[in-house]
Amino acid sequence: MKGIILAGGKATRLRPLTAITSKQLLPVYDKPMIYYPIETLIKAGIKDILIIISPEYSGHFLNLLGDGREFGARFSYAVQKEPRGLADAFIIGEDFIDNDDVTMILGDNIFDQDFSKEIKNFKGGAMIFAKQVPDPERFGVVEFDKEMRAISIEEKPEKPKSNYAVVGLYTYDNRIVEFAKNLAPSPRGEIEITDLNNIYLKSGEMKVNLFNTIWEDAGTFDSLLRVANIMAKKAASEK
Ligand code: TTP
Repeated sequence: MKGIILAGGKATRLRPLTAITSKQLLPVYDKPMIYYPIETLIKAGIKDILIIISPEYSGHFLNLLGDGREFGARFSYAVQKEPRGLADAFIIGEDFIDNDDVTMILGDNIFDQDFSKEIKNFKGGAMIFAKQVPDPERFGVVEFDKEMRAISIEEKPEKPKSNYAVVGLYTYDNRIVEFAKNLAPSPRGEIEITDLNNIYLKSGEMKVNLFNTIWEDAGTFDSLLRVANIMAKKAASEK
């Protein structure tokens, strides 16, 4: 299993903070944001990791993270010139993924969960993770059956079919690369991970795993502050 951290993007919602560095290098309490997705992958047993970054601050990532040795992992880097969409990770990552399965995590998604069991047990198809939330209409919402197979995934639906939000952690078998290469851009001009998920969903190959620990998408001022406070409290309680 290979790992990809998608840490490019424009981060327009965090301007002017992101006029000086990348969103994923901003502090979340006591460390740069990207430490969290790195630690999530490593905790899940994934140590061969491709970090996809935008050109602007690529040197900052290299200076901070190096080859990954300090984390007990191996980091590779790729530059995404323009934010073409989340599905672009699998096109940029084609050579890196090679013949393996791959888990992709968004560089601004913060978890405090051990996903190693699910990832070790992955047997092909696709696997997403979902968390119950009070305001599902703000997220991608997944509906699933008794066998935990996804039935539908809807982006920011007005009438959500469940209370489960799809989070930024996805595991796919090797077919994902070909599927991504054949995608057409959506009306907003991006190649969408939703379109990839729908391919697996339609063939009944999309498994859903629920979890109930911390999850934040740290892409707004409020969520960035919230997750920093959560991590500060957690650190204090562990002292
Ligand atoms: P978003 O939060 O959707 O986009 P963004 O980071 O550019 O922020 P904003 O909406 O404020 O302009 O992206 C989610 C994550 O995926 C984030 O870590 C950036 C990354 N990303 C890429 O690396 N490449 C892309 O093409 C896109 C769309 C996102």
